[in-house]
Amino acid sequence: MPYKRKEQIGDITLYLGDCMDIMPTLGKVDAVVTDPPYGIGWRTNSKKRNGGIRKHFTGKDEMPIIGDDKPFNPVPFLVGKKQIMWGANNYSSHLQNNYGWLVWDKRPNGERNTQSDAELAWTNFNKSVRTHRQRWMGCMRDGEECPFVGGALVHPTQKPLALMRWCVNMTEGLVLDPFMGSGTTLVACAKMGRKGIGIELEPKYFDIACRRVEEAYKQPDMFVEPAKPQVQEDLLNEQSLADTQPYVNLRGSFCNNEKHNSERGNQ
Ligand SMILES: C[S@@+](CC[C@H](N)C(=O)[O-])C[C@H]1O[C@@H](n2cnc3c(N)ncnc32)[C@H](O)[C@@H]1O
Repeated sequence: MPYKRKEQIGDITLYLGDCMDIMPTLGKVDAVVTDPPYGIGWRTNSKKRNGGIRKHFTGKDEMPIIGDDKPFNPVPFLVGKKQIMWGANNYSSHLQNNYGWLVWDKRPNGERNTQSDAELAWTNFNKSVRTHRQRWMGCMRDGEECPFVGGALVHPTQKPLALMRWCVNMTEGLVLDPFMGSGTTLVACAKMGRKGIGIELEPKYFDIACRRVEEAYKQPDMFVEPAKPQVQEDLLNEQSLADTQPYVNLRGSFCNNEKHNSERGNQ
């Protein structure tokens, strides 16, 4: 067996083990949506960080991220019809020169930020660049991870759930995240009624991912936006794009526009 543990929770399969060993044993997947470690040596020790920002989130230093001490080669993960890879500006020389990049704007109101203003994902779609706006600056976080509405971070490089829902919604069928960390991609799949496979090497994060996926099934989406036909998306003009841009309200609900919001009873 190439894995140490395997859990099936609803339509989500979670593996504890090395994705390089497990991936060859998997059948066909339709999409890869992932946020791999890419060799930046993310400093998880608060003593090495100016101001101890990491400690501020969790109360204690985090473990180093496995694989984050060496350059990342994305080529083995270019499987499935659609691929979305976060952090790809760090390893783009290995990727085809597509123009359909995704932007996560972390300071939608242009506030001052000591860290990156945005993160970028490469996709294999040759479509327009798209932007997701969600504040993510220290403890100033919009979405369900916002500390002021009881949200918490459980992984040092955790992605917002709303961001990963946005990504999963661009794909169809079975989604694979070979570097699932705390399982945000799989939580998005579970909430959206999608099938997913997640792989994680670190037991602590594997357990967290299992727990989060279980919780997600207890609170599935009341409104699941169907995938948009490709042709329609290419025809969107700036105004209609603004109307369909997902946003997150402070109570953490994922909303697409006011109409959908009111259909949910303005929760
Ligand atoms: C950047 S983090 C992903 C964080 C995730 N997006 C989240 O929201 O929690 C990458 C994860 O990949 C895991 N990892 C590193 N090498 C791996 C490997 N060979 N197989 C599986 N997981 C691996 C690390 O332990 C880390 O948790």
